[in-house]
Amino acid sequence: MDKEKGQSAGRRLRVLFVCLGNICRSPAAEIVCRAALERAGLAAAVEVDSCGTAAYHVGQKPDARMLAALERAGYRYGGHRARVFRRSDFREFDLIIPQDESNREDLLAQARSAEEGRRVLPMSTWFADGESEREVPDPYYGGAAGFDAVVALLERSMPRLVQELRGRLADS
Ligand code: 4NP
Repeated sequence: MDKEKGQSAGRRLRVLFVCLGNICRSPAAEIVCRAALERAGLAAAVEVDSCGTAAYHVGQKPDARMLAALERAGYRYGGHRARVFRRSDFREFDLIIPQDESNREDLLAQARSAEEGRRVLPMSTWFADGESEREVPDPYYGGAAGFDAVVALLERSMPRLVQELRGRLADS
């Protein structure tokens, strides 16, 4: 690899997953994405974080039902505590990934330039072909199956997201 470009030049991409409460979908996306990046050999090149658009659960661990679903799928909680989206995130992250349309609208309402808005791309951008969902559904008011379904949907999205991140690293 060209030492002046890509990972070996120390360029890091920063990715922020966003949902409403930052206790179900976005921490799951963070954990599933980090594992996919590790498998792809890109963990050192991409920094991953998550937050919510609402402050209801700030400081809390992910929802116990989401942690159980992640554990069933073989993932381990990395210590994340819920935080709310802040305007400085537009500067600090290359890619800001809302889980559903409502999260996307809430983020775009806070953007103050076209450049900030361009950093916001919904999770569905990387859904696998033939996916029946149009967004990552909120599992909060449902049962365990909904949490398992979110983890599985996120996992199916990772090949394309990792491919995009690999491409951005190569171009940088
Ligand atoms: P999340 O799920 O946005 O995926 O973290 C929710 C968490 C909390 C609430 C709704 C959804 N709530 O209404 O408190």
